[in-house]
This record gives sequence, C-alpha cells and structure tokens, in this order.
Amino acid sequence: MTAAKFTPRVFSGIQPSGGLTLGNYLGAIKRFVDVQNDGLKGQRFETIYCMVDMHAITATLPDPATLQKNTRELCAGFIASGIDPEKSILFNQSRVPEHAQLAWIFNCVARMGWMQRMTQWKDKAGKNAENASLGLFAYPALMAADILIYHATHVPVGEDQKQHIELTRDIAAKFNHDYGVDFFPMTEPVIEGAATRVMSFRDGTKKMSKSDPSDASRINMTDDADTIAKKIRKAKTDPEPLPETLEGLKDRPEARNLVNIYAALSDKTAEEAMAEVAGQQFGQFKPMLADLAAAKLAPISSEMARLMQEPGEIDAILARGAERAREITAPILDETYRIVGLVR
Ligand code: TYM
Repeated sequence: MTAAKFTPRVFSGIQPSGGLTLGNYLGAIKRFVDVQNDGLKGQRFETIYCMVDMHAITATLPDPATLQKNTRELCAGFIASGIDPEKSILFNQSRVPEHAQLAWIFNCVARMGWMQRMTQWKDKAGKNAENASLGLFAYPALMAADILIYHATHVPVGEDQKQHIELTRDIAAKFNHDYGVDFFPMTEPVIEGAATRVMSFRDGTKKMSKSDPSDASRINMTDDADTIAKKIRKAKTDPEPLPETLEGLKDRPEARNLVNIYAALSDKTAEEAMAEVAGQQFGQFKPMLADLAAAKLAPISSEMARLMQEPGEIDAILARGAERAREITAPILDETYRIVGLVR
C-alpha cells in the first residue's frame, strides 16, 4: 500500500506519569518541535501530540489529583519546549473517546501471542505477570489505536518504542486484510537524531528513565541550571580522553552517551560532534556540556514553572486541542464501525 492516499500526518504521545527527563526531551519532544516547524525530509506534516493519560493508569492507579497535575505539567513541558498549540494539535487522550473505542476493536484484532512478545510488557510485568493489569497487557493495542485513529503516517519516538510501532503496522495489516479494505496506513516510525536512546548517568548500559531510583542517573526537565551542571560533572565516565572517531567509543557507553547528548543539544550529528570534541579530557568536555545543557534546558524549566501557575490556561488549550482532534477521529471511527458492522 502506498502512503500517498493518506494526508502526511505525525502523531506521537507521552505518558503523564510525572517527571519528564532529558531522554523524553531529546528522544521525543525536541524532535516533535523540529517536525512541527520544519517538517521531515523536506515534507510538511500535520502534527498531533498527545498526553496519553489513559496509558498512565496501566502500571499502577495513581492518585487522581496527581494524575491531573502530571497531565498539566506535561502540557506545560510541551509548550515550554516550543510546541505551538495553534500549529500542532495538543490534547490529552481521555478527552477524545475514539481512542478507547478503536482500541476495543484492536483488542479483537491483535493476537495474544503478539502481545506476549512485547519486550516492554515482559520488562514491566516481570516475574509477576499474573498480577499485572489487563490494561498493561493490552497497552500496545491502545497505542496502535492512538496512532491509527488519525491515519497517522509517521510517528517520531525513541528507540524503546520501535516494537510497538511494528505491532501497530501488524494490527493495521490484519484489519485491512481481514475486512478486505485498504483503510489503515502502514505507519512509519521516525527514530532519528543523535539521541534516540539516552542512557543513565550512573550506568551507560541502562536507559535514562524517570523510574530509576537514583535522581543522579538523569536530568529532569524541572532541574535548575546548577543541578543540571552538577549531575553532568558527576556523570560516570572512564579515565581515557575522548577518542578521534565514533568508532573509538564502541566499548565506552558512558562516553558515547555524553557525546550523543552534546550532539543532540547542539543540533549536530554524532559525527560532527565527535569531530569537534575529539581528544578532549572529560575535565574539559564535561563543563562545556554542562554549560550547553543548562543554557538549553533551564529556560524550559522556568517557563514550565510559569505555565504551571496558570492551570486554567492549560486546561483551555487541552480542551481546544481535543475539539480539533475529534474533527479527525470522529469520521475515521464512523468508517471503522461501518467496515466492522458496529452501529453508533
Ligand atoms: P513514554 O511516555 O515512556 O516516553 C515518551 C517518549 O520519550 C521517549 N524516551 C526516550 N528517548 C530516548 N532516550 C530515552 N532514555 C527515552 N525515554 C523515553 C520514548 O521513546 C517516547 O517516544 N508508549 C509510549 C507512549 C505512547 C505513544 C503512543 C507514543 C502511547 N501512545 C502513540 C507514540 C505514539 C510511552 O510509554 O512513551
């Protein structure tokens, strides 16, 4: 199937589970801003960005007031980073019921075996899968619905979401095949840039994550300039100076991570960044990275704090975004129901 029949449209989502990290920023939000402003590979896109609050109740049931606060804080993070609610559609998932309605149909299309193979399910459910929620198991079908209820053609994400996008394609293909239609697109993952997998500052083989018990392992988007600089200075590294080429970083995951972060923050490729910092000692490189990170991130965190003083304004933006979202989702759900033989 060609993508030509579908409007070039980008969708992506982030869970409002509290505490955005540098990983979320470089792997996702910064890329969302770039696509909103510059398109992708010379093509313009409609851009739709979602706070996926229904996903945020799958692992545990958070306190309701905390969930609402996290949703507003995430919205503030999007706007402070440069998402313009006029240019992009910005909203929270639970305001647009078509996501859950399509997800039910996809629960009936997806196979148990497909879901059991999801590495995030295996990681999150761990040895205690019997006690995990049904929602956590079905999570990737809801994610597929998030994407396909917009007929989104492209989804920018970090490396860890790749398997879920492949599953989204499998669900679309099975639906199209079983009903003999050419209705859902084969959505492309967009996993690009130098920082598609930002690693922990304590252990370069682990992903930087808001759920890591060590606060020193990550930069939070709410950290101030001093904290950011301190965490970078203390980040684990090895005693060798930086090599001349990226090849030389092959078995040095902590050093590679810092070079990747430097590249992404300065809008360079990893190769360009490497050429610039080749041969430097960490005593020279880390302060330079700390200054760059503080200069780029501290204004975002102070703007987030300012926006959080205006919860009414944030709620109005989310309500308007949901209205615009439903102009797209309602007709696509109508047509899906017609294809399936459901009536609404
Ligand atoms: P979530 O909320 O865990 O993460 C949001 C985005 O941040 C990226 N990310 C990272 N990128 C680089 N390095 C890291 N250390 C890092 N940590 C997180 C993630 O890859 C993601 O792009 N299932 C999704 C949310 C979702 C979604 C969707 C995404 C729900 N429906 C539809 C795209 C399309 C999730 O839990 O992401």
